[in-house]
Amino acid sequence: MSRVIKIDPITRVEGHGRVTLHLDEEGAVEAARFHVVEFRGFEKFCEGRHFSEMPTLTERICGICPVSHHLAAAKALDVICDVTPPPTATKLRELMHMGQLIQSHALSFFHLSAPDLLLGFDAPPAKRNIFGLIAEQPELAKKGIGLRKFGQDVIAAVAGRKIHPDFCVPGGVNRALASTDRDALSARIADAKSWVHDGLTLLRGYLEQHREFVARFATFPSYYLCLTTPDGDLEHYDGLLRVKDGAGKLVEDRYDPANYLSLIAEATEDWSYLKFPFYRPAGYPEGSYRVGPLARLNNCERIGTPEADAELAYFRSLATDGAMVEASMYFHYARLIEILFGIERVEQLLSEPDILSDDLIAESTNLKSEGVGVIEAPRGTLFHHYFVDEHGSIEKVNLIIASGQNNQAMNQAVTQVAREHVRGNALEEAMLNKVEAAIRCYDPCLSCSTHALGQMPLRVQLYDVEQRLRSEISR
Ligand code: MG
Ligand code: NI
Repeated sequence: MSRVIKIDPITRVEGHGRVTLHLDEEGAVEAARFHVVEFRGFEKFCEGRHFSEMPTLTERICGICPVSHHLAAAKALDVICDVTPPPTATKLRELMHMGQLIQSHALSFFHLSAPDLLLGFDAPPAKRNIFGLIAEQPELAKKGIGLRKFGQDVIAAVAGRKIHPDFCVPGGVNRALASTDRDALSARIADAKSWVHDGLTLLRGYLEQHREFVARFATFPSYYLCLTTPDGDLEHYDGLLRVKDGAGKLVEDRYDPANYLSLIAEATEDWSYLKFPFYRPAGYPEGSYRVGPLARLNNCERIGTPEADAELAYFRSLATDGAMVEASMYFHYARLIEILFGIERVEQLLSEPDILSDDLIAESTNLKSEGVGVIEAPRGTLFHHYFVDEHGSIEKVNLIIASGQNNQAMNQAVTQVAREHVRGNALEEAMLNKVEAAIRCYDPCLSCSTHALGQMPLRVQLYDVEQRLRSEISR
């Protein structure tokens, strides 16, 4: 009898998704799908609001990524107001952004994914979480929590609060950095660096020990898209778009992000509210691309800070056929390298001579009808595109969210891992956890992607061919 297994909802991800596994009569996985079934319509209800509200309105899309939306919105408004923020404002925006990069990546790795790697995919679900990690490896857990706190404190020091800041405005920011905050953060850099180095050593050890497993776990070619500097170096706040194909060939470089609609199109499928963006010239689904830490480290020439560049050399050695680093598990490694980069960049920014300046806002006298703001959010490239009327009311909004761009890749990852690890005739909970772990590599934020928040216990349902519920397992 053929059956369908549902993993619903997926645990230890941000938001609510579900996986269905379609089994043949022998219990082997025929097909797998990652469904995102929340719908929120954020783009629609921004219409009619005044443009100046967008940084504080769009950041309510998500409690995990508010800083990223706040920033992308502000950048779109810089364009609409035809204004360039003063250098100190740009540095403070980037500093806040680095705080977000550090705290988000630390949450993803230490809280959500490390329990699988360090306690085992088959550890009891009740232990396979941050509290289990605290019990088994208290020193490491403390470092992970400490890194996240460091990132959050950077955000709070710069933007006034950790979540939902009201800091970026068109043409700049509205708050100077206090010298006491700069000094307090600077004093914590050395500890933060040593914590992430410990995490990197541990993860490299895991990846080396499990090389075969990692190489076969959700590994496939794809395009990769991200912002880089004009020289092709790692860039999170500004820059130009770059796309490489699965063989490592540069297919787009120095592409103006304002023209993203010529580069990216979005397909839809009737079983998911999450769209499927693709690289337009290659079509759908061939043009599916990945974004986020793995894409950024595959695409960039250099990182630009010494300690992270030293790690990048090892990252490159992991490439399939000497070209691209394809295995989904290397997302975790790329994420930790980016935490190191983030700390180094915070250190650089804090020592800029004008970082305490109060020249923070450039005046605007012009109003344009359209603006695109693009940043590299922790999870990947984030596009905010607004159209305004002559009174400054928002007429239309288009948001393309990082996790959405990894949608096709997450489906591929789920299918590959389910086919290799799930046996419907001898179903074990650990098999399904591996399927979830494939998704966690991408650290999707489903709250953001559906532009839903909530976490419930994992439910696995077995359906027979007539869609009758045959059994149910709950965690
Ligand atoms: Mg959208
Ligand atoms: Ni989010």
